[in-house]
Amino acid sequence: MAPPLIIANWKMNKTVTEAVHALDTLRARTDLLQAVDVVVAPSATALDRAAQIVAGSRIALAAQNCHWEAAGAYTGEISVPQLADVGCAYGLVGHSERRQAFGETNDQVRRKTAALLAAGLTPILCVGETFPERRAGKTEHVVAEQVSVALQGVSGSQVARLIMAYEPVWAIGTGKTATPVEAASVHRFLRRLIAHDHGEHAATSVRILYGGSVSPDTVEGLLAEPDINGALVGGASLNVQTLLAILERAAGAKERGAGPGRSSGLASSFSPTTSTSSRSSA
Ligand code: PGA
Repeated sequence: MAPPLIIANWKMNKTVTEAVHALDTLRARTDLLQAVDVVVAPSATALDRAAQIVAGSRIALAAQNCHWEAAGAYTGEISVPQLADVGCAYGLVGHSERRQAFGETNDQVRRKTAALLAAGLTPILCVGETFPERRAGKTEHVVAEQVSVALQGVSGSQVARLIMAYEPVWAIGTGKTATPVEAASVHRFLRRLIAHDHGEHAATSVRILYGGSVSPDTVEGLLAEPDINGALVGGASLNVQTLLAILERAAGAKERGAGPGRSSGLASSFSPTTSTSSRSSA
């Protein structure tokens, strides 16, 4: 039974010194890191130092964004091989802030997903509806479109290993968490969609996280839902003590519910240090 997965998305916050301090504190909690899978997505500027801090621990690193080309004249962008080189094993794609503020399209999300998979990194595919879309009853339509385009050409066995995050846009950074029932209903829909498009194995193995104003108070209720395999946490992960409180609650919740992702033996496939071995020495 795989532990719940908590991903801390620090967004455009923290200096390198602040990131190092938080990771040092996190790394010391080996008890929690045994009970919960933890991935941290710092700013790109902190990735190299972060990789040194987490080396040999169960903490893995994610990039917040990437370009789909391996190299070239793309000023300001970072490629997947460059991210692998500094020790990233995961990469966020399709975060709503990138979709809304930077015009990231479903097709770009598809290309980024493919680039991550080709380089052996695990995509964290974020999907979610806006409040007007939810009010209009379009939630399933919107997330189905986002998932279907992003996973075009991706094999069932690749889908089985990736991570999806259902992040309703109206819940991100607003303090309005979706209720466990609201979130679980979309998670079940996503799993049915994956089963239809990529097969039962992919549907039962893919880990689907919830994101949107997750806090120490809400995480347990969410993780009690069998189809919610973890959480993507933004604001509440910035204070390391609050993040530790979330990990403590998540560790407590892991005995309850046995979601498909948790019974698929994914614990053994969680290998935070996979790509740190390929990074050049600092
Ligand atoms: P939030 O962000 O926890 O601050 O709502 C979540 C996210 O953007 O991934």
